[in-house]
Amino acid sequence: MNIHTYEKIWLVAAMVLIVGFIATITYGAVGPGIAMVDDDGGSIDPDAIGDHERFGDTGVEHVGGNEYEVAVVAQAWSYFPDEITVPANSEVTFYVTSRDVTHSFSVVGTNINTMVIPGEVSQMTVEFDEPGEYGILCNEYCGAGHHDMEGKLNVVP
Ligand code: CUA
Repeated sequence: MNIHTYEKIWLVAAMVLIVGFIATITYGAVGPGIAMVDDDGGSIDPDAIGDHERFGDTGVEHVGGNEYEVAVVAQAWSYFPDEITVPANSEVTFYVTSRDVTHSFSVVGTNINTMVIPGEVSQMTVEFDEPGEYGILCNEYCGAGHHDMEGKLNVVP
C-alpha cells in the first residue's frame, strides 16, 4: 500500500461521513424520532390566552370515563394552576402553553418533561396508575425567578 492508496481511503471515508451526517439530519427533521416539542397541540396567540377556549379557564377537566384534560399556562415564574389533582387509574392529557418566554413543564420522577414555548401548545398524554405526589419544575432557564418556578401534581386514590 502506498501513500496514494491511503489518501483514497481517507477521501472515501470522509465522503461516507458527510453523506452519513446529511442522512442523520434529514432523518432527524422528517423521521419518527422523539420530538422535544409535541406540536400536535397546535398554535395559540400568546397575547390572547385569556380568550382561548382551553386556556381561558385552566385546570382539570373530566372528559369522560377515566380520561382527564389539564390546561396549564406557564409564565414567569409560576404555573396556572400551580396545583393539579387527578385520580389514580386515569389517563391524563396535558396541554401546556406559555404566556411570555420559553419554560418547561417537567414532572419530577416521571417522563413528563416538555418545553413550553409561547405561541405553541405542548400536548402529552400520561397514564397514572398509582396515587402519588409529584413536584412540577421548570427546566428551561427563564430569568431571575426560574429556580422558584414550581407546581405540584397530586394523584389521589
Ligand atoms: Cu420557567 Cu425556568
